[in-house]
Amino acid sequence: MKAMLPISPDGTGGPSRQPLLEVIRVSKAFGGLMALVDVSLRIWPGQIKGLIGPNGAGKTTLFNLITGILHPTSGDIRFQGRSIIGLPPYRIAALGIARTFQNVQLFPGMTVLEHVLVGGHRHSRSGLLGAILRSPRTRHEEEETRARAWAVLKRVGLAEWADRPAESLPLGLQRILEIARALATDPQLMLLDEPGAGLNLMEKAHLAELIRSLNAEGMTVLLVEHDMSLVMGLADEIAVLDYGQLIAEGPPEVIRQDPRVITAYLGEEDEVWDAARG
Ligand SMILES: Nc1ncnc2c1ncn2[C@@H]1O[C@H](COP(=O)(O)OP(=O)(O)OP(=O)(O)O)[C@@H](O)[C@H]1O
Ligand SMILES: [Mg+2]
Repeated sequence: MKAMLPISPDGTGGPSRQPLLEVIRVSKAFGGLMALVDVSLRIWPGQIKGLIGPNGAGKTTLFNLITGILHPTSGDIRFQGRSIIGLPPYRIAALGIARTFQNVQLFPGMTVLEHVLVGGHRHSRSGLLGAILRSPRTRHEEEETRARAWAVLKRVGLAEWADRPAESLPLGLQRILEIARALATDPQLMLLDEPGAGLNLMEKAHLAELIRSLNAEGMTVLLVEHDMSLVMGLADEIAVLDYGQLIAEGPPEVIRQDPRVITAYLGEEDEVWDAARG
């Protein structure tokens, strides 16, 4: 692969700022299958970085490595300059990395508000004993968690759905709820795994608007998305995986013309690529 300069938000690509997240020569083997091969990526504070690639390219595997669900076979992952390899998922979440799931993962029987309360609990410090004894500190933390959950629901436009069972929401709102649950942990980096999958055009427009406005408020985003017009309309830089290898990285207008990328997508539905070429 041709080496490319990382694009930092100040446009210089220079070393003036530290990447928020750095994936350094990461490989992941599942038995004999190499899901990721020597992948390096940088995500700069304030970026919306797109991560695309055909089915099975390794995108979700990379999310699982970043969030500590899986451990790399080799390589390093650094968040704010510190290696997070070997940390359990709850510690990585507490450092400020949140995610959504490719297949919506909501809890049956729980309301919209309860989902966001669960997200907010990473902030609670009083622990199990406090919860059992219901100390003043615990009660104070519960009130804070509730207030934050309501603020998040209002922020994403789900407040009026707060008491509904999450599974009763249309898919578009379920995906927004996953983002809300992630937001409740007050992250600095959001990993979104195909948030547009299964959504209609209006739902996608709503989603895009939410991602854009969160980013405008300072949220850094790594966005995996198959909908080319969605990801190319949002991301300032796109990395492309194919069979576990990073085959291209650059601004959307360069990526959509890249012959290696076009070849990687041959065989995908035509509309995917028609949309990409705009
Ligand atoms: N836990 C696992 N055990 C074994 N193989 C796995 C595991 N997770 C993923 N794989 C394999 O690793 C490869 C990459 O899968 P991954 O889910 O990361 O791809 P993806 O880019 O997210 O694809 P999609 O666009 O379909 O979601 C695939 O060949 C997949 O079958
Ligand atoms: Mg995936």
